[in-house]
Formats: sequence, structure tokens, C-alpha cells
Amino acid sequence: MAVLRGGVIGCGFFAANHLNGWAEIEGVEIVAVCDRDRGRAEAAARRFGIPAVYTDAEAMLAEAKLDFVDIITTVPSHRPLVELAARHRVPTICQKPFAERVEDAEAMVAACRAAGIPLMVHENFRWQSPILAVRRKLAEGAVGRPCWARISFRHAYDIYAGQPYLLEEKRLAIMDIGVHVLDVARDLLGEATRIYCATQRIDPRVAGEDAATVTLTHAGGALSVVDMSFAAITDPDPFPQTAIRIEGTEGTLELETGYRLKLSRRDGSRTWSVEPPVPSWGERPWHVIQDSVVNIQRHWAECLRSGTEPATSGADNLKTLVLAFRAYESAERGHAVAV
Ligand SMILES: NC(=O)c1ccc[n+]([C@@H]2O[C@H](COP(=O)([O-])OP(=O)(O)OC[C@H]3O[C@@H](n4cnc5c(N)ncnc54)[C@H](O)[C@@H]3O)[C@@H](O)[C@H]2O)c1
Repeated sequence: MAVLRGGVIGCGFFAANHLNGWAEIEGVEIVAVCDRDRGRAEAAARRFGIPAVYTDAEAMLAEAKLDFVDIITTVPSHRPLVELAARHRVPTICQKPFAERVEDAEAMVAACRAAGIPLMVHENFRWQSPILAVRRKLAEGAVGRPCWARISFRHAYDIYAGQPYLLEEKRLAIMDIGVHVLDVARDLLGEATRIYCATQRIDPRVAGEDAATVTLTHAGGALSVVDMSFAAITDPDPFPQTAIRIEGTEGTLELETGYRLKLSRRDGSRTWSVEPPVPSWGERPWHVIQDSVVNIQRHWAECLRSGTEPATSGADNLKTLVLAFRAYESAERGHAVAV
């Protein structure tokens, strides 16, 4: 198996999870790192034994002979970096949120399509082991036809300590976590046709909304409530777990905090533990996220080798992004909007 040579752009808070993850993927080697902050790039290179260090993404793409690039920067740099990678015809992974505007996401998808390279958004929530378990049960028909669902991400963990830039975001909860949970709703229940959203700003330190409640009507007729809060105090704090309840014609599936998956049917119930392993390099409570990073990276390597489209391709993630923007539109107008 030929080794896939990868390059990383962005060596900040979340990049350590990607770099640790890549080290677990057989047949992938990260050969170059880039950060416009040289100290961060050098520290990552030292820690992960990466030979080449750049502060300029263009120079890395021109020189490093990459089979793919993994962009782990915040959203304003996504479009210029993805377009740059497309000009160099290097298959690209881009972190979420994909873009700040639909036009930017469309331009990135078009640029990669024109260059003939795959583009995947690192939308990792649907790759979390407990959520994959929910998906499998649904596919087996465990609840019959899904009618109603709740997908919920609520906590009061101090996310601002590691990601201080979030305090300044005018569009906070929906762009940061809403894109993840809306994507899970699409993945489990199909596309939405109508959306209603109300937002709240609870913590006075934040510039944007830190809670949102969204109602979706799905094309198949199911309804879902997708809710999130960064200011929901619970003991023990469930961060970063997603709680899911899906009611169907034959039963109900519940992914409860504590990683219990429960299936109730008329003749009784069963419960499974779906807690993911803690990677050797990982730690609680982040292990569910860290495990999902490895899962999506493995998927990318398989797609790259087989020439298949990643599940969370740029074109797919554009639909999640449109949902997020429609959520803001609904909240501003105070009524439901079509998707
Ligand atoms: N999928 C997940 O579970 C998850 C979790 C946390 C963060 N994220 C996302 O990851 C992204 C990065 O977040 P973070 O917390 O690591 O941010 P960060 O600010 O800590 O790190 C980003 C790094 O990118 C570098 N950078 C920015 N533009 C650059 C450019 N043009 N060229 C080279 N380097 C550049 C910065 O210098 C910085 O070191 C965000 O979009 C965030 O939403 C995803």
C-alpha cells in the first residue's frame, strides 16, 4: 500500500487531535505542517516528528508533494486555503464550520470540482461511535419508521478556555455546535424542508447566542427538535456528549448521557453501553470526539484510495450549512422558514 503523504495547515487548539489521529491511520504519513505562527508549527513538528515546517501554505502546497492537505484553521481562512489547495490540485479536508456565507461554500465546492479533487468537511459528529450505533439500529428497522426525534447538546463546560475566539463570535452556538447537531439530524432523519429556530444569549461574556432551539420538519414527515446550550448547568456535566431520542412506529431509541443506548419496544427494552474507547493519546471527556476524528480520517483515507466521495463531502456539508443559515434567518424573523 503506497503511503499517502499529508500536510496540515493550522497547528492550534484542535490540531493535536488530528495529528494524533493521523498517527493511528495505517498508510498515512503527515510530512509537513504549516502555521502562520512559526512557533506553533515548529512545536507540532517537534511533538509529532514531522520533517517539514512552513509558515506559508502556498509554499507547502508547491513543495511538499502532498497527496492531501488537512486544513484545521478557523472559518475566515477556509475559502482562501481551499481555493489555494484546488489550484495546486491537492485533495482537501476542511474543518467545520465550512464557511461564513453560502457563496463561499459554493465557491469551494466548485473550485475543487473544477480541479477534479475531492473535498471533505471534517464533520466528525456523525462519526462518533455512539451515533454510528444509533444509525445502525435505525437502519436495522429497530424503531420502525422514525416519527419524532430530539438531538440535544447542552452543557456548561468552559469551552472558552481552549477556544477564546468563541467569545467574540457574533454567530456562536449554531455555527460552532449547531452545524454538528443539524448534520446529525440530516444524517439520521433525512433532509429538512422547514425550520423554526429561537436563540438565547445567556452568558453575558459572549457576543453571540449561546443557546438555540430548532424545530425541523423532515422530508419523510418526521419532526425533530435540535437544541443546544453552552450555559446549561448539570451535575455531572455531560460535555461533549450528544443526547438523542428517536421515536418510531415500532419503538424508541435513546442515546442517554453516560453512553447508554436504550431501545424500547412494546415487548420490553434493552440497553447497551456504547462508550467509545479512550485513545492512548486521548483523555476524558474528549474521547468521544477524539475517537470520531480517527473514524473520519480512516474514512477519508479509504475514499482517497478508492476514489469514492466522502460522506461529508463539501457538497453534502453545504446542505448542513444552509440549515444553519436558515436557523438564523428564522430566529431573526421570528417565524418558520422553508429550507
Ligand atoms: N470538529 C470538531 O470536533 C472541532 C472541535 C474544536 C474545534 N473545531 C474547529 O477547528 C477549527 C480550528 O479551531 P482551533 O480551536 O484549533 O483554532 P486555533 O485558533 O486554536 O488554531 C488555528 C490555527 O490556524 C492558524 N492559521 C489560521 N490561518 C492560517 C493560514 N492562512 N495559514 C496558516 N495557518 C493559519 C492560526 O495561526 C492558528 O494557530 C475551527 O474552525 C473550530 O470550529 C472543530
